[in-house]
Amino acid sequence: MIELDGVTKYYGNYPAITDITFRVEKGEAVGFLGPNGAGKSTTMKIITGFIPPTSGTCSVAEYDIVNQSIYARRHIGYLPETVPLYADMAVSDYLRFMGKIRGMSRERIKSRISEVIEICRLQDYRQSYIGKLSKGYRQRVGIAQSILHEPDVLVLDEPTIGIDPIQVVETRNLIRDLAGEHTLIVSTHILPEVSMICERVIIIHEGQIVAVDRPENLATRLRGVERIEIDVRGPSKEIIAAVKDVEGVSGVERKPNPGSADFTTYEIEGTRGGDLRALIAASVVQKGWNLLRLQAVGMTLEEIFLRLTTTEEQLPES
Ligand SMILES: Nc1ncnc2c1ncn2[C@@H]1O[C@H](COP(=O)(O)OP(=O)(O)O)[C@@H](O)[C@H]1O
Ligand SMILES: [Mg+2]
Repeated sequence: MIELDGVTKYYGNYPAITDITFRVEKGEAVGFLGPNGAGKSTTMKIITGFIPPTSGTCSVAEYDIVNQSIYARRHIGYLPETVPLYADMAVSDYLRFMGKIRGMSRERIKSRISEVIEICRLQDYRQSYIGKLSKGYRQRVGIAQSILHEPDVLVLDEPTIGIDPIQVVETRNLIRDLAGEHTLIVSTHILPEVSMICERVIIIHEGQIVAVDRPENLATRLRGVERIEIDVRGPSKEIIAAVKDVEGVSGVERKPNPGSADFTTYEIEGTRGGDLRALIAASVVQKGWNLLRLQAVGMTLEEIFLRLTTTEEQLPES
């Protein structure tokens, strides 16, 4: 549905994004994750035809976004990072205006305005001036205009940025609902947001894609590291020594337990690929200690993100 192939964008001599290649399938919800300045907005502006790439190609619904822009854009709803809202227009007038610009018929505009106002829960604000609305409600108007012409592709650039926490929750719910009916790309630098909304995450850093995966897979994929937690009853020092001896284990740490527990929890890091869990279990049981629990633990997206976006030199010695 969305396809980028080797997309590069220079602002003057500065490469904002370099060689970006990815596909988004029909119906998929993809999170575009990266710190400020990573190139998220630039990529989205290219996908939506607002700026052309310096090189590479991008197509939406099989239409080239540069050469068949009008056809491609019919499929796209776009919430830019700064929505061009008119402060002295009432919500419904603004939506009518946006519908006209997009060449929608009068009847279709009328029925769609009712629908999008309901979808975006703007019922009480139809006649309110946009300038009078809170940031959260203005953002809903922005989303309302993006879905007005019933596009099948939605591109939302940091839809929750700068709005208050309660509104953030509602906006995320709204986006999750929209994700059900659209092909969606949503950018954010807030990590929990992607796992709430998206099936796949593209992590972008300094204009390049550094990782693409499902949120839950990113955890273990990262740098081939696997993390395991075990609860064992037995002598701590010896347990740590024994686990460290297991092939592939790179670190063992004792975790604080509630004082009442008659076992100790250890967090183990090791190389993925081997049969780490089986080897650890065997080693513990062989020594006659009680293995009460063994579990693979994923890293939080926060941790992954930090690792992925921390340059090699900055990584702590392991
Ligand atoms: N119009 C522009 N002119 C020059 N540099 C720009 C322009 N827009 C963005 N940049 C630069 O390109 C890089 C990527 O910006 P952007 O795509 O807005 O990142 P993000 O949305 O991830 O924060 C940044 O270093 C930014 O300063
Ligand atoms: Mg941006």
